[in-house]
Amino acid sequence: MSDHEPRAEGVARILIGDDEIRARIVEMARELDDVYGDDVPLLVGVLNGAITFMTDLMRAMTIPVQVDLMEVSSYGGTATETSGLVRILKDLSSSIEGKDVLIVEDIIDTGLTLNYLLRYLRGKNPRSLRICALLDKPARRLVEIDIDYRGFTIPDQFVIGYGLDYGEFYRNLPFIGVLKPEVYEQP
Ligand code: PRP
Repeated sequence: MSDHEPRAEGVARILIGDDEIRARIVEMARELDDVYGDDVPLLVGVLNGAITFMTDLMRAMTIPVQVDLMEVSSYGGTATETSGLVRILKDLSSSIEGKDVLIVEDIIDTGLTLNYLLRYLRGKNPRSLRICALLDKPARRLVEIDIDYRGFTIPDQFVIGYGLDYGEFYRNLPFIGVLKPEVYEQP
């Protein structure tokens, strides 16, 4: 089956193929290698969506890095919308004080999750705090977010795959696909 042939029921089309994702991550990793140089960044991946991006990005980087993971969940929203109310399900495992923290996210949509996380992490006095997001969907932004490193800017479509889910499915697709509207527009 070709890389550009949707292979999951519910996928309308491939938006970004796995070759394109891989190539862009290598570019991002080179840039991060250069930016941090001799400093050791602490990559903080935001579960669950960022797992795929995080593991590919860290393996593409050549400088020493440290990693930690957080899990947050928005509540009061729906399957397709975040609410802005964020709850920490898994906190950092160790102190980030004085560290060069790089938040690794799969997608920035409304920006509400990251807005909360930024405030939370800033309060822990890292030396620097930057954001690296694979996908940026600016059309839906509700709060301004300064994204330091972005993989792709995407249109306002419901995307799944490469870590992103709908109802916890599709995360294992190797590409970013557009979900068929009939999947989430149930009467
Ligand atoms: C997704 C994504 C971001 C957030 C972005 O997580 O991973 O954390 O939504 O949306 P926002 O910019 O509108 O706040 P989600 O809550 O779907 O959980 P998941 O990572 O487990 O899929």
